[in-house]
Amino acid sequence: MAIRNIREIGDEVLLKECRKIEKMTPHLEELIDDMFETMYEAGGVGLAAPQVGVLKRVVVIDVTGEDPLCLINPVIVESSGEQTGYEGCLSVPGKSGVVTRPAYVKCRALDRNMNETEIEGTELLARCIAHELDHLDGKLYVDKVEGELYDTVTDEEGDD
Ligand code: NI
Repeated sequence: MAIRNIREIGDEVLLKECRKIEKMTPHLEELIDDMFETMYEAGGVGLAAPQVGVLKRVVVIDVTGEDPLCLINPVIVESSGEQTGYEGCLSVPGKSGVVTRPAYVKCRALDRNMNETEIEGTELLARCIAHELDHLDGKLYVDKVEGELYDTVTDEEGDD
């Protein structure tokens, strides 16, 4: 496993549509392992493949620190309600802003064994799924921010 370089806003790779994954390969296994390691190291709760420069439809999420989720070709099949709150992104370091997301989402995807899976989420998990899936379509939360993009406090450096 290896820590990959996280691409930051301004990098065109973050604005591109990702391709569907057809089959699991050793290469993809390695990508997924690296994405988890990179996300944990950066203290994030989610990471999408384009954030490490790979235009494939895969995201990793772990909102509790003990529930790692790998979602391949994920699609939100149901959503309801609204939640409005602060959001940040590892590709937009030092910033956060207010974004409205669904209060509940149901997501259909393949797991890392390429078996179909369905994940339901509320609160942070719903927000995170919506945020990471946006990355796969080249969308960043900064375009959805209500009001200003704020600077986060600097003592978050290395606070993971
Ligand atoms: Ni993000």
